[in-house]
Amino acid sequence: MYKFRRMSISDYNEVINLWKNTDGIGLSGNDESKKSIKKFLRHNPKTCFVATIDDEEIIGTIMAGDDGRRGNIYHLMVKHEHRKNGIGKDLLERAEKALKKDGVRKIFLVVFKSNEVGNKFWKKNGYDLRDDLNYLNKVIDD
Ligand SMILES: CC(C)(COP(=O)(O)OP(=O)(O)OC[C@H]1O[C@@H](n2cnc3c(N)ncnc32)[C@H](O)[C@@H]1OP(=O)(O)O)[C@@H](O)C(=O)NCCC(=O)NCCS
Repeated sequence: MYKFRRMSISDYNEVINLWKNTDGIGLSGNDESKKSIKKFLRHNPKTCFVATIDDEEIIGTIMAGDDGRRGNIYHLMVKHEHRKNGIGKDLLERAEKALKKDGVRKIFLVVFKSNEVGNKFWKKNGYDLRDDLNYLNKVIDD
């Protein structure tokens, strides 16, 4: 039976293994270290969730966070054999609800252009493609 709960740092080993084995999840070195995820969860304790089977095996994740104004979503994934059962949508709705409770009105996220499944999922779930913006970033510490 599928169950959902907040993500905790004790889930790290299981979660990082899932991310490493999921197409469409962009991992960038230090950003996904245990130290970094611990810090993210400390800053955003109520907006990151896992889906499990009977509270044992983790089969889905979502990390969401906010800066007090805008929300961001990262690492939404569901294990292949459990997809198309509404788990991704459930994880997303939990994160959206928790962000809304924190006063967030708008959510941003990044998805690889090549990720057909991901792009379809976001569109279906009400996320609009902004083709009037450029996505920019700069690494300030590597
Ligand atoms: C994207 C992902 C999380 C969706 O998880 P899921 O549990 O299969 O999604 P759900 O079953 O909750 O589907 C929710 C809605 O999206 C739609 N959807 C899901 N996968 C889809 C697909 N491959 N093609 C078209 N629509 C899709 C469903 O039809 C559903 O719509 P409905 O509510 O009208 O039935 C999952 O495919 C995944 O882990 N992909 C790899 C990681 C990834 O790309 N993550 C996003 C990175 S930004």
